[in-house]
Amino acid sequence: MRVLVLHGPNLNLLGERQPEVYGTQTLAEINAAIEAQARELGVEVRCEQYNGEGEIIGALHAARAAFDGIVINPGAYAHYSHAIADAIAAIALPVVEVHLSNVASREAFRRRSVTASACRGAVSGLGEAGYVLAIRALAGIASG
Ligand code: DQA
Repeated sequence: MRVLVLHGPNLNLLGERQPEVYGTQTLAEINAAIEAQARELGVEVRCEQYNGEGEIIGALHAARAAFDGIVINPGAYAHYSHAIADAIAAIALPVVEVHLSNVASREAFRRRSVTASACRGAVSGLGEAGYVLAIRALAGIASG
């Protein structure tokens, strides 16, 4: 099984970006934890990060031919990008949305995710563990 992990805008700054909200781990450290979990499950994983909406949509389209499932943290696009939601709905792959912070407990505009409504499921507020759980969920979906 092959899983694509897509990190959205500003997540390249993890470690220095609002550590009181997002923790002190860098994106490279989070990716290492994802890769370790994937190895344990025998899942092939690729982690990518994009700041642009169009780049994320392009990566979702390209994943159709190369991956069996997707983990996505769309960052703030989650709250308003109907274009990313449409791209998730358009591809016939299971997609799990992850947020490091608990978006339900933050500002009102973060409580709604338009992209999560196109996903199989979502995890929020568990930091790095959210990605690990998402990989495990996709491996479970693939094995029936
Ligand atoms: C985030 C939550 C979003 O509201 C925010 O815009 C982000 C990060 C998270 O992982 O907690 O960029 O997706």
